[in-house]
Amino acid sequence: MIQDLITFIGRFHPLWVHLPIGFLIIAVFFKAYVVLGKKPAMQEAVSFSLLLGTISALIAAVLGFLLSRSGGYEGDLLDIHLVAGWTTVFISAIAWWVNKNELRFGKRLNYAVLGFMILALSVTGHFGRNLTHGEDYLTAFAPFGEKQEVTKGRVLAKAEDAEVFTDVIQPVLRSKCQSCHRPGKTKGELNLHSYETLLKGGENGPVFIAADAEKSELIRRVTLPADHDDFMPAEGKKPLTEEEIQLLTWWIAKGNANPKISLMDADEEIIAWAKPRLNISGGEKMLAVSIDTVHLKALEKMGFRVRVLSHEYGALDVVLPSDAANGQASDLLKALLPIKDQIYWLSLAGTGIQDADLSQIAQFSNLQRLRVENNPISDSGISALRSLSKLESLNLNGTKVSAAGLEPLAEINSLKSLFLWNTTIEPQDKKVEKISSTGVKVVFGS
Ligand code: HEC
Repeated sequence: MIQDLITFIGRFHPLWVHLPIGFLIIAVFFKAYVVLGKKPAMQEAVSFSLLLGTISALIAAVLGFLLSRSGGYEGDLLDIHLVAGWTTVFISAIAWWVNKNELRFGKRLNYAVLGFMILALSVTGHFGRNLTHGEDYLTAFAPFGEKQEVTKGRVLAKAEDAEVFTDVIQPVLRSKCQSCHRPGKTKGELNLHSYETLLKGGENGPVFIAADAEKSELIRRVTLPADHDDFMPAEGKKPLTEEEIQLLTWWIAKGNANPKISLMDADEEIIAWAKPRLNISGGEKMLAVSIDTVHLKALEKMGFRVRVLSHEYGALDVVLPSDAANGQASDLLKALLPIKDQIYWLSLAGTGIQDADLSQIAQFSNLQRLRVENNPISDSGISALRSLSKLESLNLNGTKVSAAGLEPLAEINSLKSLFLWNTTIEPQDKKVEKISSTGVKVVFGS
């Protein structure tokens, strides 16, 4: 099981990274000692620590790469971390070389390179740290700014209060368009931040015509073939789903692009789709969920590992190690039901769970990351997961899922990464292409 081995080795990354950090920082301290303390004999120590730092950074980068392939991490943060990591390796090597030949290269260059090395190291460390806390942890749980606005609208008392534009369309634009069309970054001179800015249009004038969806640039852009130059969102970003397009079209065509029109005036289908996405207070409570520590202690006694991702939201990361499962995973899972809405990350890798257990997991409404790799689960069980409307990452490595099993997963709009090592699915399969085309990153081992 090469995959297990890679995962096993990769997991040493978070531990190992402390070595290069230590070596490279101590090298700078030694250097300061050489220069400020006038201890030229220490120059050897600077060289040696830089060498150790470079080698250990190289190993860390390789381990990190393996870890990234084994699933569970994704997104821009990972890309930045990866690039910064390799940059650190590269600059450390240069720092070692320049320092060794300081007479030739000069002191200034030597100091500058050491400075860059520390900068690269800090950037890598910063993004690495954020990665282990999760991308959404940063945005959704940030102690400042637009907390819930990231993917949800304002908090409403009841669904009847919802307005189509503010409570349903805006969250969609926010998550799929505003990375390029917002105050301070208005690609095509279009700002989709508010109704007023949308009304202003872009560099080519208005982007919608009330009551005429067909002539509306906004609709044209999102319904073009995805490979068309004008297609939005640009640059292969996650496209709008059919429902989202239907919603926009309805709002312009039938809703007359009225910013205040109530959701209750929309078509049945649209209401049904939009309702669970609203941020209703009391219904799906986001704020101030208390953590029942007694229950968590009981879970830990049963062998679960539980980590609090956010105290404010009561968000938990739950892991059932395979040795703790001991063939009892089905029974153990039942103990999670009382806190099912608090589980944001869940790992049941190699615990022996079966198809029937997945229908329980399908009730964990806030689940963002799910690892069920190396379990005897198949298409019939996996189709239950389609109801997980916040799932972003799903690891199905080493399961019996087949290409047909991917179809229900395409319904999960939030899905960003899918791991399929050691399955019978071929990367060239049509079903794989289809799910990739909806913006999901599908990872095969090689
Ligand atoms: C990755 C960046 C990016 C994202 C994400 C993005 N756009 Fe754009 N958009 C652009 C760029 C660049 C232009 C200008 C070039 C062009 O007209 O194609 C543009 C232009 C437009 C225009 C034409 C404005 C005008 O007056 O010419 C519309 C309409 C538009 N985008 C809508 C959207 C919508 C709706 C979304 C979300 C579904 C979206 N965009 C997401 C980059 C982006």
